[in-house]
Amino acid sequence: MHVIKTIDDIKRIRKQLAEPVGFVPTMGYLHEGHISLVKRARNENKSVIASIFVNPTQFGQGEDLESYPRDLQRDLALLEKENTDVVFIPEPATMYPRSFNTWVQVDDITQRLEGTSRPTHFRGVTTVVAKLFNIVEPSRAYFGQKDAQQATVIRKMVDDLNMNLEIVVAPTVREPDGLAMSSRNKYLGTEERKSATVLSRSLNLAQQLYSQGERDTSLIRNKMIELIKSEPRAEMDYVSIASLDTLEELDTIEAGALVSLAVKIGKPRLIDNVILG
Ligand code: PAJ
Repeated sequence: MHVIKTIDDIKRIRKQLAEPVGFVPTMGYLHEGHISLVKRARNENKSVIASIFVNPTQFGQGEDLESYPRDLQRDLALLEKENTDVVFIPEPATMYPRSFNTWVQVDDITQRLEGTSRPTHFRGVTTVVAKLFNIVEPSRAYFGQKDAQQATVIRKMVDDLNMNLEIVVAPTVREPDGLAMSSRNKYLGTEERKSATVLSRSLNLAQQLYSQGERDTSLIRNKMIELIKSEPRAEMDYVSIASLDTLEELDTIEAGALVSLAVKIGKPRLIDNVILG
């Protein structure tokens, strides 16, 4: 496994790889959710490149950039076990030299849901992902359904800018009790960890109501909010039932609606979602 820090080196090694090349961008502190993407990329491509880069531009003021969990040695061992061919681990100054002054910005859908409380987040995500795509030139790139809005935003960027690759979105990997795996789960204390199942419990409730024939979004949303409010450690940010493509809120559920939520449990702010039907 090649572990590479510079853009020149990754471009050089990229040329030697067998096609097609699958790419898994991450911010590290890998868990089974990330590994599921690497496995999928391994199954579907001749070569696999992963990146680990805690991207400063997608963190807002007062967010957890400095304290974001890191464990490079463990991450590299996990990637090696999955037969990853190349791992790209650039320094911030490599990706963002002092002269850096260009941004990739998807409008509208980035201002909804996560964008309401994190208005500059997706500009950072699309800028770094566009740079990584240009550096790595993957045939396919793999993203998790866990970050549903991110996947929608990246699909939109690739479509709007005619980028020459396929985006694959893979299912959310969960802990046995339903909590979606996330690097930020590490911040949860023992009691908070128990409370954190309120996210998946309220998504299950939405799915259950939907399968019983309920189609009124405000009724489903209110039941979810009631459940979240019954959990004293949970502080709700939003509960949304929206179109998966436009992220516009729906009055009546249509097939493939995205139910998503953000809830603070103590320090960490957790997100999760399901697609109905
Ligand atoms: P990060 O949070 O490290 O996630 C990397 C990839 O793993 C993303 O595509 C994310 O959706 C996926 N992922 C995270 N948890 C998952 C889970 N429980 N099940 C399945 N997939 C999961 O997302 C980012 O990094 C960054 O924004 C990035 C795209 C790398 C740009 O900086």
